[in-house]
Amino acid sequence: MAAIRRQFPVLERQVKGKPLVYLDNAATTQKPQAVIDAITEYYSGYNANIHRGIHTLAEEATAAFESTRDTIRDFINAESREQAIFTSGTTEGINLVAQTWGRQNIKAGDEIIISNMEHHSNIVPWYMLAQEKGAVLKVIPITDEGELDMEAFDTLLTERTKFVSIVHVSNALGTVNPVADIISKAHEVGAVVLVDGAQSTVHLDIDVQAMDCDFFVFSSHKLYGPTGIGALYGKKELLEAMPPYQGGGEMIKDVSFTTITWNDLPYKFEAGTPNIADTIAFKTAIEFTDGIGKDVIRRHEEELLAYTTDALQAIPGLRIIGTSPHKISVVSFVVDGVHPQDIGILLDNRGIAVRTGHHCAQPLMDRLCIRGTTRASFAMYNTKSEVDVLVEGLHKAVKLLV
Ligand SMILES: Cc1ncc(COP(=O)(O)O)c(C=O)c1O
Repeated sequence: MAAIRRQFPVLERQVKGKPLVYLDNAATTQKPQAVIDAITEYYSGYNANIHRGIHTLAEEATAAFESTRDTIRDFINAESREQAIFTSGTTEGINLVAQTWGRQNIKAGDEIIISNMEHHSNIVPWYMLAQEKGAVLKVIPITDEGELDMEAFDTLLTERTKFVSIVHVSNALGTVNPVADIISKAHEVGAVVLVDGAQSTVHLDIDVQAMDCDFFVFSSHKLYGPTGIGALYGKKELLEAMPPYQGGGEMIKDVSFTTITWNDLPYKFEAGTPNIADTIAFKTAIEFTDGIGKDVIRRHEEELLAYTTDALQAIPGLRIIGTSPHKISVVSFVVDGVHPQDIGILLDNRGIAVRTGHHCAQPLMDRLCIRGTTRASFAMYNTKSEVDVLVEGLHKAVKLLV
């Protein structure tokens, strides 16, 4: 653990005179030195625009950039490298699919299914599409424990269901959803399925072929990589049939004022100069995570989750939100009569970073009849002694606020 922590420079810092206890990993993870170095090395050693240059720097930058695509192919077990499209993150991946596949295929009266536990970025693009097309947005309800109501899902699925967009792991509850089951049921009625892997990719082994999803989206910054870069996986026949997302350089083969031909995959969806430095460092982040081993990280985070869940029971008036047995790495809670923001401020005074509020999941908060929660979320570098600091801070905060 000490060796892992040493690789994350920010963990050395103090906040309000106390050692930082960073428990906001579901929002974004901290970055290891190797990732920071990869960005610096690109800018200080071989900064160049990619693909069309014939000089040495351009070739080095292109090779490094494209090699991230190979790493992502292996990381999620995509059939081919062309099926890994770079995006700015999960949000852009979902918008890309809604604006291309969605606008091409969704018609008035068609049904799109999402769930009651989606992040806003997996609600708003589908709401916008449904508004534009006159389609119907249907919502899988959840149980009080924070699991999808799968019986209700069965009744929502009809021959009018054209698309299902579902979160793999809830950012607000930590629930791991039965995506393989959802995908196979959706396929039975001919629907296409997108899995939002923003929270799952850092914890779970992802095999898009075994899962049989049609699209899978995730962000680098939630798996120890830089912000501003992510990936979209899609089944080849779907990606090939989809129109481009944005127009510009790189996504075309030939341009005249009367005719334009689109580039091949994956470039058809990658208009303009991409985020080269962060794409290169994305590979470093994946290698770093794989180097430690997701199974090792997962076991560690499971222990932290169990330890935290136990310790929080002793805090008067505290209720954990999201109690599915299938959950990972997130503890969300409310305390009777206390605003989550007040807890967050008092914890910050002790150097503890947690997230408070609706976690970009307002419909979920409405369903649970709460305004928000306080959320602690774990990463590979968190320790039980940090949880002890959190629990002590919570005891003190609750005493003060109740
Ligand atoms: C479940 C889920 N989906 C989507 C997103 C959006 O990811 P990004 O902001 O990296 O695009 C997040 C971010 O918190 C998330 O937790």
